Amino acid sequence: MNETSPFLAACRRQPAAHTPIWVMRQAGRYLPEYRELRAKVTFEELTRRPDLAAEVTLQPLRRFELDAAILFSDIMTPVQGMGVDLEFAPGPVVRHPIRTDAQIDALPELVAERDVPFVMESIRLIRPNLPRGVPLIGFAGGPFTLLCYLVCGKPSKEFGPARSFLYSQPDSALRLLDKLADAMAAYLRAQAAAGAQALMMFESWAGLLAPAQFEEFALRAVRRTMSALRGTGVPLIYYMNQGSALMESVVDLDVDVIGVDWRSSLSSVRKVLGPAKAVQGNLDPAALFASPEELRRQADAVLSQAGPNPGHIFNLGHGIWPETNPDAVARLIDHVHERTSGRREAVS
Ligand code: CP3
Repeated sequence: MNETSPFLAACRRQPAAHTPIWVMRQAGRYLPEYRELRAKVTFEELTRRPDLAAEVTLQPLRRFELDAAILFSDIMTPVQGMGVDLEFAPGPVVRHPIRTDAQIDALPELVAERDVPFVMESIRLIRPNLPRGVPLIGFAGGPFTLLCYLVCGKPSKEFGPARSFLYSQPDSALRLLDKLADAMAAYLRAQAAAGAQALMMFESWAGLLAPAQFEEFALRAVRRTMSALRGTGVPLIYYMNQGSALMESVVDLDVDVIGVDWRSSLSSVRKVLGPAKAVQGNLDPAALFASPEELRRQADAVLSQAGPNPGHIFNLGHGIWPETNPDAVARLIDHVHERTSGRREAVS
């Protein structure tokens, strides 16, 4: 079936009217309308009230010609739904970090419609209000990335306690990862059932691991989740931050798209991944601070590295910075569209 949405077409490596673009963390603090709403309510309330989560999800779509929307929520929201006591300050802080088998065994399974019903309600509110038939991406955190926050208890540069946990208590780590993998499978299945048209897993801390540990712990859990999601029929995206050394490990991962940070060239990534996967990325978020001419040059470099074949979704290599000028985002989106529209005809 040919997709009319450039984003969904690119996920399936089909030709698209133009290279689709969306921006990781596109709903957030760089937008004055987000800051205005956020001044009145906590971040948690934004995620828990479907009317507000829907409003914040739609804000960037009103301003920009984006090719996809992403649900406004957080990777730790389903973990909260499993009873883990945490707050956002602004990164997630877990009151009682999880380090023992007793704590791991006490984690209940996630029943998404019972434990985090507001997420699916948000999706049902967003879908009919999306402009231009733009598709909605649902998401979850990678099991290892969630483990990082659960074991360390707070954001960190190196997540030392999480990494040493893999070596000091490998069986406990695997038990926790299996639980999280099953919970994220249930969570993402519920999002697709509620109307999410693509599912993305954020592995923000993939790059902390050596390839062997990545495969043995992180990727094993991702496979467990992804194999449970094929039945949904929607495209699956796996984003790895700092994943350049891990590309070979994900060649046979059963997903449609690999999300790439800005530290690798998309041309070398596409060579490693082969023709069976689309790629998403990978402009450095810092490039949005360049002059308009330089920003266009940087965007062109990403497009040229991605090459002329279908299966590229333009994005940043990681989340947009709160200090970014929204005008730069508008210029980037327009440029990517102008540069690539009609390319299908030009190429064939
Ligand atoms: O992309 C989007 O527009 C959707 C919203 C979204 C948020 N968090 C909103 C948010 C998404 C997809 C996430 C995912 C997320 N959350 C990740 C994976 C992506 C990544 O950036 O690597 C991670 C690691 C988290 C955990 C988390 N939540 C951190 C580290 C922080 C604080 C960091 C920061 O940006 O300040 C949060 C809080 C958070 N999540 C905010 C937003 C808009 C800021 C909260 C606020 O308004 O105070």
